Amino acid sequence: MTGRFPENFLWGASSSAFQIEGGWNEDGKGMTVADYNSFKRSDRQADSKVASDFYHHWKEDIGLMKELGMQIYRFSISWARIIPDGDGEINPAGIDFYNQVIDCLLENGIRPFVTLYHFDLPYGLVEKYNGWEDRRCVAAFERYARLCFEKFGDRVKYWQVINEQNLMIRVDERMNINEPDAWKADKIRAQMDYHMFLAHALATRACHEIVKDGKIGPAVSSTCTYPLTNKPEDVWAAKMNDSMKTVYCLDMHYYGKYPGYYMRYLKERNIVPEMQEGDEEILKDGRMDYIAVNYYRTLCAGYLPADEDHPAGMRVFRGNEVDFDQYGYCRDEKNVNLRASEYGAQIDPMGLRIVLNDYYSRYHLPMVITENGLGMADELTPDGQVHDPCRIDYIREHLKACALAIEDGVELMGYSPWSFMDLLSSHQGFRKRYGFVYVNRDDTDLKDMRRIRKDSFYWYQNVIHTNGEEI
Ligand code: BG6
Repeated sequence: MTGRFPENFLWGASSSAFQIEGGWNEDGKGMTVADYNSFKRSDRQADSKVASDFYHHWKEDIGLMKELGMQIYRFSISWARIIPDGDGEINPAGIDFYNQVIDCLLENGIRPFVTLYHFDLPYGLVEKYNGWEDRRCVAAFERYARLCFEKFGDRVKYWQVINEQNLMIRVDERMNINEPDAWKADKIRAQMDYHMFLAHALATRACHEIVKDGKIGPAVSSTCTYPLTNKPEDVWAAKMNDSMKTVYCLDMHYYGKYPGYYMRYLKERNIVPEMQEGDEEILKDGRMDYIAVNYYRTLCAGYLPADEDHPAGMRVFRGNEVDFDQYGYCRDEKNVNLRASEYGAQIDPMGLRIVLNDYYSRYHLPMVITENGLGMADELTPDGQVHDPCRIDYIREHLKACALAIEDGVELMGYSPWSFMDLLSSHQGFRKRYGFVYVNRDDTDLKDMRRIRKDSFYWYQNVIHTNGEEI
């Protein structure tokens, strides 16, 4: 390696189906949990009906990806476009759509990195089985995954099974959990999580069987937690915060069994999921080949003792619904040493170096960054430009952290930030934008959906062109 990044380093950008595609019910596509949730907010903000309208602009958008210099494009397939109700009839129009996208990417020299499931479970599976609570959802996923490998595996070699299982399981809306009783909700979550682990392992096995030279792994929402003080209890709390939110999940994908502390938690809460004979082999057989890392921020935690009203293991979700406190383990705290984005995410490039080193020393597997970026309320100037210097600074500093991690010995295959173009943010619609390409619409007005290159587009284009030498 002569420069900061290896010669074969893969530069790209990312997106997900429900956040960019639109065409939510076109050509046979079924409704998804992501559609359903976004429609609940339709009176206040953009929903998934049109999103960035990639469904009708994909040729133009792939042209822009080529112009940016992208070598990989990380996107997701919508399960409900392929199998509208999740486990029934196959929709040939959905397969055609992704075939065209994949072919066009390859014609433009861009390798597809595909996620099978990014928060958008077909709603039919919720109606039939309450989604992941029922083991039939596992079989449905395996069937869908096999179909994707058979149809697209001749051209798609890099797959991610589930986007951020470890985060999604903490968001009731995404899992369709409507249980007011905290213990019952924890029990349902544990069962759903377990079923997703099985589905992950079965899909991994199927990919190894069907896709020649295929590589498959999870896309994890990484966490890096600092202790609130150097008291030993706080240091332990910080480790447990990472373990309970992320590392147990990676361990499942690598070793095929819950780590001891996680089994202890499941037992102390009396929520050990139902397992069947043969599951152990399935889980062991589904070892990940690489880790796709999503990284935005770091966390801070102090020790939270259990008490009479709050037994060990009990979780309480606070504020943003993604981060929980866990009695007997850890409590989320603010890190006064970090500044936050306008949407509250604490910005911390050093945390990325820590995460990459941590995961590499645990599993010695190659990694790729599939999400990293800054959500901002970008605005179009009267002369039609978008100046986003904060995004450039954010990505520059995180790229420096990647370069240092590579020097530390981490096998980092590539960098694919969030997001290629503006898209539907989960909670802030089109008010919060991440893209290199501005989409000219807002929450209430579709305007002309014009694509406009932001300043960061030109900056990142040069980064790719110089293989990261000019950042
Ligand atoms: C990640 C998700 O957790 O965060 C993306 O994989 C999401 O789908 C991104 O868009 C940013 O979060 P938000 O809430 O700002 O859209």
